[in-house]
Amino acid sequence: MTDLKGKRILLGLSGGIAAYKAAELTRLLTQAGAEVQIVMTAAACRFITPVTMQALSGNPVHSDLWDASVPNNMAHIELSRGCDAIVVAPASADFLAKLAQGLCDDLLSTLCLARECPLLVAPAMNLQMWGNPATQRNMKQLREDGIAILGPASGDQACGEVGMGRMLEADEIFEEIEAFFQPKLLAGKRVLITAGPTFEPIDTVRGITNTSSGKMGYAVARAARDAGAVVTLVSGPTALAAPRGMERIDVSSAQEMYDAAMARVAKADVFIGVAAVADYRPKNAKPHKLKKGTGDMTLQLQPNPDILGTIAARRKAPFCVGFAAETENLDAYADAKRRRKKVPLLAANLAQHAFGADDNQLILFDDKGRHELARAPKLELARALVAHIAKLLPKK
Ligand code: C5P
Repeated sequence: MTDLKGKRILLGLSGGIAAYKAAELTRLLTQAGAEVQIVMTAAACRFITPVTMQALSGNPVHSDLWDASVPNNMAHIELSRGCDAIVVAPASADFLAKLAQGLCDDLLSTLCLARECPLLVAPAMNLQMWGNPATQRNMKQLREDGIAILGPASGDQACGEVGMGRMLEADEIFEEIEAFFQPKLLAGKRVLITAGPTFEPIDTVRGITNTSSGKMGYAVARAARDAGAVVTLVSGPTALAAPRGMERIDVSSAQEMYDAAMARVAKADVFIGVAAVADYRPKNAKPHKLKKGTGDMTLQLQPNPDILGTIAARRKAPFCVGFAAETENLDAYADAKRRRKKVPLLAANLAQHAFGADDNQLILFDDKGRHELARAPKLELARALVAHIAKLLPKK
């Protein structure tokens, strides 16, 4: 089950070079099980052909306000009825100006004005056009009108300039659409999350780490963000891209992770410790590369601070959630860990199934007992975990 399965999306394209990204977006939407209806402006048809969009969406493409093939000849009303959302990507400066003014001189702008469903727009334009006070005035108006604005991003532009105005990539817009449909269960909450492994230096080039990929922690961060929370992600070394729309602090050792978390915990309503924090670190890490000797070598270890335990023991502790990765006796170890760390909720998984994989299986332990979540992609489990947290959070 994906978040967009069965959703009906009207994807509108206005004229801009970023129109090619709408082709990939259409694929992502249809692969996720959404029903996609494409509407293009005349200018959009100059950048990418309706044939391409028809092939990818599996539906006839409309661009004419006077389309006799629509039974009641009211394409401007019919096409958006029953839709879950209209998404305009790319949304050109001209199209956004029209939206802000309520103009409707072609099919797409008329559909937007006559809609009953939410409207999301992904601006795409040259940086001067984006920065122009007229465009900024229009954007302010669109926000006030309750239109969701996706992006834009900053970076290389097709015109050769570099700056703000580039349309988000197709996968980013797809993620934003998924996020849009999530219930805002953590609206207004501040959530602090640790994720990934830690790296404990032995000398300047060696260290002790573990095989945690960070995927589960990042999925939890994304699910919390999509649920409306303000998220801070303290991440150990991972190969994962920084998720959009949250603060990410990169750390390496458990001590750095501890310091970063402690510096931010006072403001947090919820703390979720997903990181696989090393329990020990080498004593006296050497400030140079260790030389090979002839005999055995002994590495002395000392305990790391327990981030979750310390935060849970605070006088004004946030709602604390722990993770436990075990290789055996999952239930017994996990529940004992929850009691020892004094956290209201602990999510347990089998390390051999969880580390590095895209799927996972979680069992949640709280005061009411054991709640098993079926095996699923990590993002789906993360959304279920967020929903469980939202249920347990003290009501103000
Ligand atoms: O102590 P143990 O590793 O068994 O417990 C796992 C849980 O505790 C996870 O939520 C992990 O993020 C957290 N933890 C921590 N600091 C440590 C060790 C574990 O926050 N030093």
